[in-house]
Amino acid sequence: MKIAPSILSADFAHLARDIQTVQQGGADLLHIDVMDGHFVPNLTFGPAVVAAIRPVTSLPLDVHMMVDDPEAWIPAFAKAGADTLLVHVEATPHIYRALQLIQEHGVKAGVVVNPGTSLSAIEEVLPLVDQVLVMTVNPGFGGQAFLPAMAQKVAQLARWRSERGLAFKIEVDGGITDQTIGTVAAAGADIFVAGSYVFAKGDSPAKQMAKLRAAGQ
Ligand code: DX5
Ligand code: ZN
Repeated sequence: MKIAPSILSADFAHLARDIQTVQQGGADLLHIDVMDGHFVPNLTFGPAVVAAIRPVTSLPLDVHMMVDDPEAWIPAFAKAGADTLLVHVEATPHIYRALQLIQEHGVKAGVVVNPGTSLSAIEEVLPLVDQVLVMTVNPGFGGQAFLPAMAQKVAQLARWRSERGLAFKIEVDGGITDQTIGTVAAAGADIFVAGSYVFAKGDSPAKQMAKLRAAGQ
């Protein structure tokens, strides 16, 4: 299992420090939530922040694009140093083209589904993608409650992956804690994004990530 702390819950005034803390604490990836104030009702980072983060960590940068017109931003985020670009199927009428564009830039491509979106919307692109991100909350904010019904989506994806001989990784994002990680881990998820749980007050990010790993066994 891979743990991807989301810097949405980090201290933005001390971003480099918090990134180094999670890297030393055993993070596998760094999850960066890009929000444009249109696709989701919140605003966060653009390519300049991704470019600033790139030299301060050796962790792969997992860039979650919660933006309208994602095709317009793919070249800039690729240039900024993203290792994986994740595009919402709801954000473009041309998801196939968007995923091809990501791969043409030499970056791993992921597709994301909102809680209200059926997996049928992404079935045709599964042979193309490196990652599928199942939202386990409505996107836009950290600290929301996990939606248990999403575990069935993870299980369905895992079934399709094995039946069809595909190799994409299954990622979950939203409300992941030591109480919720078990159900999605058992359903077949590989990558677990966690923001508020990792950066919680109290225990260190290293301890929080260790608790997630123990609970996800
Ligand atoms: C929500 C973001 C998540 C967020 C998760 O739109 O995509 O990555 O940071 O936060 P938690 O883990 O607090 O639910
Ligand atoms: Zn995210």
